Amino acid sequence: FSAFLTDSFGRRHNYLRISLTEKCNLRCQYCMPEKGVKLTPRSQLLSTSEVVTIARLFVQEGVDKIRLTGGEPLIRPDLLDIIIELRKLDGLKTIAVTTNGINLAKLLPRLKEAGLDLINISLDTLAPAKFEFITRRKGFHRVMEGIDRAVELGYSPVKVNCVVMRGFNEDELLDFVRLTEKKPLEVRFIEYMPFDGNKWNFKKMVSYQEMLDRIKQQWPNLERLQTGHANTAKMFKVPGFEGHLGFISSMSDHFCGSCNRLRITADGNLKVCLFGNSEFSLRDILRCGASDEELLQVIGAAVGRKKKEHAGMFSISQMKNRPMILIGG
Ligand code: GTP
Ligand code: 5AD
Ligand code: SF4
Repeated sequence: FSAFLTDSFGRRHNYLRISLTEKCNLRCQYCMPEKGVKLTPRSQLLSTSEVVTIARLFVQEGVDKIRLTGGEPLIRPDLLDIIIELRKLDGLKTIAVTTNGINLAKLLPRLKEAGLDLINISLDTLAPAKFEFITRRKGFHRVMEGIDRAVELGYSPVKVNCVVMRGFNEDELLDFVRLTEKKPLEVRFIEYMPFDGNKWNFKKMVSYQEMLDRIKQQWPNLERLQTGHANTAKMFKVPGFEGHLGFISSMSDHFCGSCNRLRITADGNLKVCLFGNSEFSLRDILRCGASDEELLQVIGAAVGRKKKEHAGMFSISQMKNRPMILIGG
């Protein structure tokens, strides 16, 4: 495996998350600050060919999974072209997308044809009025339709991401579990994480343990499942239910030790940790005509400086980071 993508703790980074846009057709409160997000001018965002050039380099060095994120990646006009180009890269096994689901039903057939392998869909409530409150937009039924279409088209597993917040959707935990009864979904409950402008506080966070306890009161025979080495989620299932449950415990029990991810922001920065604020512009050196070797030197130096783990939930809630909408999760 490439030395450039291996950090000083021996972690091999074979999973790249590329954010394709800073824009979104929703306004989720935990992700997009109400005011003050300065969008990067279009000319400063990575172009189609720059995205593909960067992806090609990482795949050459051993990346075998790329997840496209945003903002909302499905609003990027060249998304299909990007997927088609990525599909041609030898060694890239998986192309995935994380979407809010709004445009999914419409685009799915073309996404599938272009070669998209995996889909994660964000959905934080099963109540349409609450959906409108959290996302500051309408669209609940479109997202549900997107989820159903993805299942119908054979995507498996279709993952549904639910960020759990106290006083907001914690009362829907059991309803989300019931969603896995008849549908082969993987519903993942995510601990609420702090990012700039998202008003995180400890009291609003519902921990993995608390969620698990509540669900076990209803289904005491909840079964733990094995997962792969670098999975973000701890997996369970209710015996007899078709789908699975996951818990993403970034705050209370982080999984930095098995981290295999690197990120490229829409404006072309390499971000080696979701909760680290050091970034390195690949766009700038690319636009100066850097060779692959020169790019790899920069990437290798950044990966080499990656920290062992994030600094703990209170420190990361104080640190300066981008708002989530400018990172892509
Ligand atoms: P898979 O590729 O299916 O494993 O998806 P994923 O869980 O990595 O990605 P997704 O985009 O669905 O994100 C789900 C949640 O996991 C979001 O809240 C992300 O912010 C979080 N997440 C993704 N990668 C990391 C990471 O490296 N560190 C931490 N702490 N959280 C992450
Ligand atoms: N905490 C936890 N998860 C978040 N996401 C966005 N903001 C946050 C946050 N503050 C999730 C979205 C999406 C994924 C990429 O990240 O719901 O599914
Ligand atoms: Fe948009 Fe996703 Fe952020 Fe919500 S979580 S504002 S859907 S990018």
